[in-house]
Amino acid sequence: MINLTVNGTKVSVPVEGDMPLLWVIRDVLGMTGTKFGCGIGQCGACTVHVDGEPRRSCLTPVSNVADSAITTIEGIGATKSGKAVQDAWLGLEVVQCGYCQSGQIMTAAAIIDMIPEPTDTDIDQGMSGNICRCGTYVRIREAVKQAAKAAASK
Ligand code: FES
Ligand code: FES
Repeated sequence: MINLTVNGTKVSVPVEGDMPLLWVIRDVLGMTGTKFGCGIGQCGACTVHVDGEPRRSCLTPVSNVADSAITTIEGIGATKSGKAVQDAWLGLEVVQCGYCQSGQIMTAAAIIDMIPEPTDTDIDQGMSGNICRCGTYVRIREAVKQAAKAAASK
């Protein structure tokens, strides 16, 4: 049994410690907002926060995060940066098919937490590990800027 804290709630999951966190989130906890893309750390679709830092959940053994605060797309809206990102995403209609967008939002929120006024270069570098097959990158960049301004003014 592994004890976890997910979106502020403590849970115990009956899994082996080497199970990827992504499997636990989706298949054991039933939270399907976090997506499986490549499974090898290359696309960013599975990004969650572990103690506020973006992490590829497909590559993270669940035993590694037993003592950490895990935040998923289902919980990020409760944070100032996450709410600002979600509002900007909606306002600028960033989403196309949507599959990559949970991971994009999680990474964007982490960027704003780390860099309150990100430049285009900061954004492009910070988001570079999150792949979007629909090519929404221009809207993502604008939305990160808008979200950073909104988060800073609150
Ligand atoms: S599914 Fe984890 S990086 Fe692609
Ligand atoms: S919105 Fe379709 S893959 Fe990014």
